[in-house]
Amino acid sequence: MRRWLLGGLGLLLLLCGGGVAVVTWLVTRSATDTVGKVAFDRPLQISPLAASTVDADGRRVFDLTAQPGDSDLGHGAATRTWGYNGAYLGPTLRAKRGERVAVNVHNRLNEPTTVHWHGMHLPAKVDGGPHHPIPPGSDYQAAWTVDQPAATLWYHPHPSETTERQVYRGLAGLFIVDEPGVEPAGLPREYGVDDIPVVVQDKGFDGGQLSMSDRFLSDVGVLGDEILVNGTPGPYLDVRTALVRLRLLNASTARVYDFAMSDGRPLTMIGSDGGLLAAPYPTQHVRLSVGERAEVVVAMRPGERVELRSQPTGLGRFQGGRDAFDVLQLRAAAELRPGELPRQLADIPRLDPRQAARTRTFTFAGREINDGRMDMDRVDAVVVKDTTEVWNVANGHGTPHSFHIHDVQFQVLSVDGGAPPPELGGWKDTLFLEPRRRFSVIARFADYADPTTAYMFHCHVLRHEDEGMMGQFVVVEKEGDRPRLAHG
Ligand code: C2O
Ligand code: CU
Ligand code: CU
Repeated sequence: MRRWLLGGLGLLLLLCGGGVAVVTWLVTRSATDTVGKVAFDRPLQISPLAASTVDADGRRVFDLTAQPGDSDLGHGAATRTWGYNGAYLGPTLRAKRGERVAVNVHNRLNEPTTVHWHGMHLPAKVDGGPHHPIPPGSDYQAAWTVDQPAATLWYHPHPSETTERQVYRGLAGLFIVDEPGVEPAGLPREYGVDDIPVVVQDKGFDGGQLSMSDRFLSDVGVLGDEILVNGTPGPYLDVRTALVRLRLLNASTARVYDFAMSDGRPLTMIGSDGGLLAAPYPTQHVRLSVGERAEVVVAMRPGERVELRSQPTGLGRFQGGRDAFDVLQLRAAAELRPGELPRQLADIPRLDPRQAARTRTFTFAGREINDGRMDMDRVDAVVVKDTTEVWNVANGHGTPHSFHIHDVQFQVLSVDGGAPPPELGGWKDTLFLEPRRRFSVIARFADYADPTTAYMFHCHVLRHEDEGMMGQFVVVEKEGDRPRLAHG
């Protein structure tokens, strides 16, 4: 009897001990730190500039084919991925303000997709949202006139409920808008030389394949423990200029980064989502939530090596907030071409809240915006063309979100009632909606009235978006006009 009791006790202790070990393992595994552990042994891949032709109508025409392929992402050469015109990611599209562009999209995947032009001001019909799926095997054309300041925009799929998986597999690319004559002289601007695309993504692997299993207790979806830049694991960049411009894009599905240099030198921020800042802003770190961009300039000295890192963000452990990563090593040549940044970068006319036609409030909590999930048949906001609106956006709980509006670039009026920090002083289309913070933003809906087609606003944490944390707005010609949605 006694022996039985002891045996039972022992077994119980063993089980408890095992439980504690498992929980300890899960919790430690839920923080990742790759600082000092990355080999930096592969040259940074630079996504090629997309080829284009000018058609008989004078339009610049691009082709994008969404297709499966095999990639070497550091776990063997046969990782199954998706890309545009290649196995992983897509080429960088580039056009000038005022240019008419057309993009022919070919879906060679075995499921529906769409291509959305994130940050682009364009008609709702060609916005590439979930209302307009491109069936497998078919083709689609989006055409519009580029009409906005020089900026680093991007494109990615936006189908109903499968966006996280499609982006994670590799579908994403940059769209750079130029505005010759307006962009100041002196900015590094030689693509791939001193003007570098830096598309940052986190990945998890299971054997040689991408893994989409969620981190323990994650409320944001997949958080990978390895970083790819432009699809390159452990990348380094050979630098030949004293100033190097990095066009940072957070193209991850859930992770927030806080970028800083390994030796603490400043990053000079020159641009946000929708264009250049008014003036360069030197800062110790640049935080980017999902979908956000920042253009930064790093000053280099001859012969040195320094790393771009991502440091802990302050978010919770299960939201990736304790993680730290080595991201990209910059290797300066023995001699560097000198450069100097201009003092002024852009004119940013301030939108005036006193001129706003409407003020709306959107509260993000659970997976809902104002207690509702995405409904393609419900219009959440009817906006009158050529008016300005103030949107108060609040995060009502402890989960991080990333607030994005289609069609427009907005300005941040306030953060928790106070003045916004300098990094939020320029044009934005995506905003880190930190837990329990409130923001007020202002935008002008200048044109493209179309009562039949909705634009979206949503959380850009792609798991949340897929789960319906998204709403719709329609731009109408004049006050009193009603939307008449006509999709499907
Ligand atoms: Cu980058 Cu609605 O998306
Ligand atoms: Cu978008
Ligand atoms: Cu969210």
